[in-house]
Amino acid sequence: MIAVAIDGPAGAGKSTIARALAKRLGYIYVDTGALYRAVGYFAIKNGADTTSESDILRLLPKIDVALRFVNGEQRVFLNGEDVSDYIRTPEMSMAASNVSALPAVRDFLFSLQQNLAKSNHVVMDGRDIGTVVLPDAQVKIFLTAAAEDRAGRRQHELQRKGLDADYNEVLKDVVQRDYNDSHRAIAPLKQADDAILVDTTGNTKQQSIDQLISVVEDAL
Ligand code: C5P
Repeated sequence: MIAVAIDGPAGAGKSTIARALAKRLGYIYVDTGALYRAVGYFAIKNGADTTSESDILRLLPKIDVALRFVNGEQRVFLNGEDVSDYIRTPEMSMAASNVSALPAVRDFLFSLQQNLAKSNHVVMDGRDIGTVVLPDAQVKIFLTAAAEDRAGRRQHELQRKGLDADYNEVLKDVVQRDYNDSHRAIAPLKQADDAILVDTTGNTKQQSIDQLISVVEDAL
């Protein structure tokens, strides 16, 4: 099986670009952030503190998370319910970032991610795919862009969904999440030694897609 691992900070356009790349290659696109978001969603729904290890440990046995692919589109199921449309708010982003710092949560989601790559050609995006989940991936990309660019893209994405999004708030969230994700003790966000750095600052979406496709096709 062939795996393309794409890691990088929040709002670097990973999902849009990775999805286009997967389509081009005929692989499935796996958005691993959705798994952490589903755990964060369950925690919030159950009134838990997403930074409290004891709260989350108590809830984990009650969680069943699965990914299903419908016409090539990933959907996330939490205890049998499709929660894909509820996990994209800024509140869920921060909840995901909080729970993802807990080793028990990372262990809980680890084999699900590895198993997908055992039985499918995948483009998988996240924070630790090239470093921890798929260290033997054929191609590893570290996708980044300036924080201001990333915040601008996130703001547009939220506005398109009809959600209220103040630029400064979004920028603050993006910077905070980058800090959390790159400073946690376990599986922190960092570029794998053998990853190719792709910086999309100043690019249009199409330019970023073209840039990534060309880098990955050269590397495969
Ligand atoms: O990619 P996305 O923004 O949906 O991820 C939400 C959060 O989930 C990230 O901020 C990060 O804390 C966590 N995450 C992670 N490891 C991954 C994917 C996401 O820790 N492989």
